[in-house]
Amino acid sequence: MTTVLRKPAEFRQVCDDARANSHRVGLVPTMGALHEGHFSLIDEAKKRADFIAATLFVNPLQFAPDEDLDRYPRTLESDLAGCSQRGVDVVFAPEPDSMYPAHFQTQVSVSELTKPLEGGFRPAHFDGVTTVVAKLFNLTGPCTAMFGRKDYQQWKILSRLAHDLDMPIEVVGCPIVRESDGLALSSRNRYLSASERERALSIVSGLRRAHDAWAEGDRSVETLRTLAAERVRAEFDAVDYVSVVDPDTLLTPAESANRLLIAVAAHLGTTRLIDNVVLGEDPRP
Ligand SMILES: Nc1ncnc2c1ncn2[C@@H]1O[C@H](COP(=O)(O)OP(=O)(O)OP(=O)(O)O)[C@@H](O)[C@H]1O
Ligand SMILES: [Mg+2]
Repeated sequence: MTTVLRKPAEFRQVCDDARANSHRVGLVPTMGALHEGHFSLIDEAKKRADFIAATLFVNPLQFAPDEDLDRYPRTLESDLAGCSQRGVDVVFAPEPDSMYPAHFQTQVSVSELTKPLEGGFRPAHFDGVTTVVAKLFNLTGPCTAMFGRKDYQQWKILSRLAHDLDMPIEVVGCPIVRESDGLALSSRNRYLSASERERALSIVSGLRRAHDAWAEGDRSVETLRTLAAERVRAEFDAVDYVSVVDPDTLLTPAESANRLLIAVAAHLGTTRLIDNVVLGEDPRP
């Protein structure tokens, strides 16, 4: 049976007890509205740990005032059923007030990795993410924490956070789970109309085009970028970025790099989607 906890102190206690009973804690932080991408993190956690904690928290700190905090999907009942079915031991689903009580005034911030890509378009977003995840890491204690590489930059930032602050957390980045036609799973996909859902495929078709060119030996950053960007620009209403960067620094890649991250963020109507592939490392998406 999955235990559902609302209070931070109770969640901390349960994780402490699990370790006292010689369990390894596996942590899967989410904003709920769970899909197979989230469940893949739970499955991977079960390979690496034997007491699985999933958190469901729509973190107000990481939404800008003009973003979708109020309409963000909240599907607690089915999330709990899914967690229970997939073998989660404890679900932590706090109320915002218990995470951010009156007088809360501390922020955790990673300085450099937050600047490129998403940083140019969601300026306060990662400070909200690193602050809430630092709290979740501290409540959970020593554990293996799973993150999806759909949010590639987030994964890199959280690895940096744990390392820089000597947190006893092993941060693991897991492969992107896609629909059968290639669209990366996202809780926000449910916002898409039928025609937007069709047009959304241009992200993965752009990434495939770049992946194919790389496989044929093309190493020109500008060519690879353009191949992907053309597809996305043809279908999306607005493109925040199609960027080719070093997969570790997220900055301009070296001339003869043997791995390149190509990352995309773009809008269809009021829905913003992101996706990426690491050329020279990931299979064709
Ligand atoms: N398709 C996916 N494959 C693998 N991991 C994923 C996928 N989608 C989300 N995740 C991971 O699940 C974790 C929780 O993410 P989150 O709850 O924001 O879900 P989401 O689908 O990204 O929702 P949204 O797109 O609305 O932000 C993150 O580590 C994220 O990278
Ligand atoms: Mg997300």
